[in-house]
Amino acid sequence: MLKKLKIITYGCQMNVADSQRMAARLETIGYAPTDEFADADLILINTCSVRDSAEEKILGKIGELKQYKRRKPSLIIGVTGCMAQKEGDALIERAPHVDFVLGTGRQTELIKIVRLLESFHRHIVDVEGMSDPIVEELYTPRGTHSAFIPIMYGCNNFCTYCIVPHVRGRERSRQPQDIIREARAAVDNGTVEITLLGQNVNSYAHGFPQLLTEISRLDGLKRLRFMTSHPKDLSDELIEVMASEPTICEHLHLPVQHGSDRLLQRMNRGYTVERYRRLVEKLRAAIPNIALTTDLIAGFPGETDDDVDRLLEFVREIRFDAAFTFIYSKRSGTPAATFDDQIDDRIKHERLERLMAVQNKISREINDRLAGSTVEILVEGASKSDEKIFSGRTRTNKPVLFRHGDERAGDLIRVRITQPQTWLLKAERVE
Ligand code: SAH
Ligand code: SF4
Ligand code: F3S
Repeated sequence: MLKKLKIITYGCQMNVADSQRMAARLETIGYAPTDEFADADLILINTCSVRDSAEEKILGKIGELKQYKRRKPSLIIGVTGCMAQKEGDALIERAPHVDFVLGTGRQTELIKIVRLLESFHRHIVDVEGMSDPIVEELYTPRGTHSAFIPIMYGCNNFCTYCIVPHVRGRERSRQPQDIIREARAAVDNGTVEITLLGQNVNSYAHGFPQLLTEISRLDGLKRLRFMTSHPKDLSDELIEVMASEPTICEHLHLPVQHGSDRLLQRMNRGYTVERYRRLVEKLRAAIPNIALTTDLIAGFPGETDDDVDRLLEFVREIRFDAAFTFIYSKRSGTPAATFDDQIDDRIKHERLERLMAVQNKISREINDRLAGSTVEILVEGASKSDEKIFSGRTRTNKPVLFRHGDERAGDLIRVRITQPQTWLLKAERVE
């Protein structure tokens, strides 16, 4: 009999890619995906530690799973990903209905562990050796019009606020031929859009512009994206490749984090506001219509009113298409957690509100200008709230909603923007 697998994924695209790989591994020992918790024989929670709010939400979810275990004692529950790596045994102590905890570098052990647990009940924690060399597996993204392909794992940057290097280990790059093989196979299986993933793709060890060029020329690939780019390593060569390869989308996610040099330095980001400004100028000169998105942190330790003014001024100057704005969250084990000038919660929230207000207005103004224009979108499928409304994305990575006719996920179609909003565009199909 076929066994059922339910995976819940939190965090970034890297986790989404890891979940897909885990599902593929588990399929080889008879697990088929299900949407229902109650049907599952194995539930995996693939976790994120980047902010306290993420961890709180995940702990709540882990707690909820207890009821399924009570109803079906043979159910296996596993916690994987960044929080698994960070918390280890503590997760099982806190939630004994969790059967196993698997670290970020231990995915190769997944099958062995699940097999063991199928025959004997016990607790297993395997979080050692997260900086293991990469073990290549013959994995092919299938049946997905849009594929995430990791090109590197881990991070060496140690931004002072960030937990990622601590839970993902040091940077390890895959070999170009392995990545190209996987991309080729994905396209042969119907993938039209590929997103290359890494915490800092610009420091890919075997030449990112070259890799990007090779993949962009794969026959049958329509759209190529990548994330995340670190401003300190973004090269002119990369900008040239983006400008010259038509498959590469006109969008760049380039997290700046702050608009005050003093804070950028305290964050250990390795660039100045001026350097970032020059990068944006180059990008906009080389790639007309490029959409720029960013990440911003409000309330980093030591942030003064003057720093906040600089941040808001910078956001108004650059005019990002969109920004993900976060309240600084203290992560134990990181340098910033020990800084003695932490900002009061209420002030952090106030600053975030102001930042969002400024950015939302800009996003809306930029989107408003798209009204009446016709753009190509990649159809993603039914929207969350309404089956008759489908969603898609522009090459600039803006979400688009339109009334469904006969379109299928993976189709490239043309739409006219009718009603722009802050975070999305409403549109109608044109022939
Ligand atoms: N490697 C990527 C980012 C990964 S984390 C990069 O460097 O761009 C995604 C975003 O989460 C970061 O860009 C940052 O804005 C935010 N972030 C990371 N740690 C955080 C913390 N402790 N508190 C608040 N936001 C944080
Ligand atoms: Fe975190 Fe900085 Fe690495 Fe990004 S580059 S994952 S923010 S340490
Ligand atoms: Fe979260 Fe880990 Fe990604 S901490 S943001 S899931 S690398």
